[in-house]
Amino acid sequence: MKQEKATVLEHDNFQGEYRILRLAAPVVGPLVKAGQFLELQVPRIGERILRRPFSIYQADESGVAVLYKTVGRGTEAMANMQVGDEVNIIGSLGNGYPEPDPSKTPVLVAGGYGNAALYILAQRMEKKGIAFFGGRSAIDILLVKEFEALGWDVRPTTDDGSLGTKGLVTAAFDPWAAEQDFQSLEVFVCGPNPMLKAIGDRAIEKDFTAWLSLDKNMACGVGACLTCVIKRKTADGWEWARCCKDGPIFESREILWEV
Ligand SMILES: Cc1cc2nc3c(=O)[nH]c(=O)nc-3n(C[C@H](O)[C@H](O)[C@H](O)COP(=O)(O)OP(=O)(O)OC[C@H]3O[C@@H](n4cnc5c(N)ncnc54)[C@H](O)[C@@H]3O)c2cc1C
Ligand code: FES
Repeated sequence: MKQEKATVLEHDNFQGEYRILRLAAPVVGPLVKAGQFLELQVPRIGERILRRPFSIYQADESGVAVLYKTVGRGTEAMANMQVGDEVNIIGSLGNGYPEPDPSKTPVLVAGGYGNAALYILAQRMEKKGIAFFGGRSAIDILLVKEFEALGWDVRPTTDDGSLGTKGLVTAAFDPWAAEQDFQSLEVFVCGPNPMLKAIGDRAIEKDFTAWLSLDKNMACGVGACLTCVIKRKTADGWEWARCCKDGPIFESREILWEV
């Protein structure tokens, strides 16, 4: 984990309310593992301490990019950042996804910025598989062409049926999975918590591995403040685990969901 003053190289509208922010960050860039995130100190927001967490969408020796949606004060201020601005980042944070099991069929399940969070994994995996992307409408399904260009078979689902199968992501995942040998699947999931839980429940019931990237509000991102804790199962009960440091990726069987 390093702190770096990164320079904005590009900052463009991408799709709908999403933008891509590309940063020159030669210290953090080379450290990035698939599924990790960074904490970004939004400039000109008038807050000295609180940073905002963003999954790392792309990374190489020279820097990183994030794909983000404007939802509130911090991301609105981010949207005003200009090429050449300097931004303080801490990264790369979190445990990241484990090395994929080469004997299994890799499956990605994502929604919203989850698609961006899975991109590095999809890029770096030698064996390409199938990707289920869910969203409200066609405009919410990100990066289909980019995943297809990497060799993934992308199956979109939308609530309104404007792209792919109509319904939740499970409307496409379930009939496909029913035709597979469940134990041969390794599923990597990033998206809203109900999506994580839906796939996690299926993993336990059908006996496949599912790595879930939990979405919790994070104040510090480095394990110090405990705003991001979840209950993690242990042999004789449960313990607190910090999503920012012990996670955000947990195997489905580790999580004690609280509804
Ligand atoms: C590990 C991690 C990775 C993330 N990666 C991305 C990413 O790649 N792209 C992206 O667009 N966003 C990502 N987020 C969410 C992003 O951090 C929040 O959207 C951002 O912090 C909101 O800041 P704000 O000041 O604009 O909004 P605020 O004013 O803080 O909040 C605006 C609204 O967003 C909600 N909100 C804030 N944080 C979250 C959150 N973590 N999950 C769900 N709702 C939230 C608030 O409840 C509120 O309704 C990630 C979050 C985490 C924890
Ligand atoms: S965000 Fe502070 S401990 Fe996780």
